[in-house]
Amino acid sequence: MTDFQKTLDAIYKKAACSDARGETASYIPELADIDAHKFGMHLIDSDQRNYSVGDSNENFSIQSISKVLSLTMALGLIGEDLWKRVGVEPSGDPFNHLSLLEQENGIPRNPLINAGAIVVADILVSRLKRPKEDFLAFIRNIANDRSISYNERVAASEKATGFRNFAAAHLLKSYGNLKNDVDLVLDFYFHQCAIEMSCAQLAKTFFLYGNGGRCMQGQGYLNTHQVKRINALMLTCGFYDEAGEFAFEVGLPGKSGVGGGIVALLPNTFCVACWSPGLNKKGNSKLGMEALEKLTSDTGLSIF
Ligand code: DON
Repeated sequence: MTDFQKTLDAIYKKAACSDARGETASYIPELADIDAHKFGMHLIDSDQRNYSVGDSNENFSIQSISKVLSLTMALGLIGEDLWKRVGVEPSGDPFNHLSLLEQENGIPRNPLINAGAIVVADILVSRLKRPKEDFLAFIRNIANDRSISYNERVAASEKATGFRNFAAAHLLKSYGNLKNDVDLVLDFYFHQCAIEMSCAQLAKTFFLYGNGGRCMQGQGYLNTHQVKRINALMLTCGFYDEAGEFAFEVGLPGKSGVGGGIVALLPNTFCVACWSPGLNKKGNSKLGMEALEKLTSDTGLSIF
């Protein structure tokens, strides 16, 4: 049997010695000052045993990782109609690029790039009575943890500097693919990105994607067909123009965020969350990518 704790300890030891940690996300001022020396990891196996190292209980901004959760909620609300407004192909572009959106008449390539997640946010704003409260309640229920919250300072910081997201939302609006007011949708989107969680909470929340759509408490959120689709999107689009590299090095469906978090899973085997705030040039956690590569290489466990 795989000794996950031994593997995490070895990863932690290696990460602690690393002096090439990448840069924190400077385009969101509140994230720029996070200590780049933080490093945490939490793994939950299919028998719900927990393993952790480092700063695994410290909260960080989940950022784009939230796009998987908003997609999950929207899919539950409107089902297959969602794919009329957003595609399922990898973009091969950075997460905030707009050129394809114009070439493809306002249908974002996939729901995990910013423009696609803004369309999903629009769907939730249309469907939910109290979007921010209801979305947070949805996540708290999956994680079975009422302490998960928005960081209002991070949301405000992004609202003040998120010019590309405003550009994307206006472009979507011009193509008729944004039904609600731009400011309302972006207020929701900036909040969803500003949810804070620890590695332990994140692994718990994403357990359902490796467990046929059922969370750790046994409640079903997605059917097996929907889980297959979301895991496929994480594999092909979860790391933007580095999705190929992540599949090549790590070999798991996963999702990153510019807060330095990465969550990844091997169906019916484990779900793992990692946090190291320094990013590589593509906006993905530098040590997080290396840590997950070591995890799948040392254990021999990946989808391939
Ligand atoms: O919209 C943005 O740019 C950020 N709130 C999220 C971007 C992000 O996390 C990309 N991930 N690697």
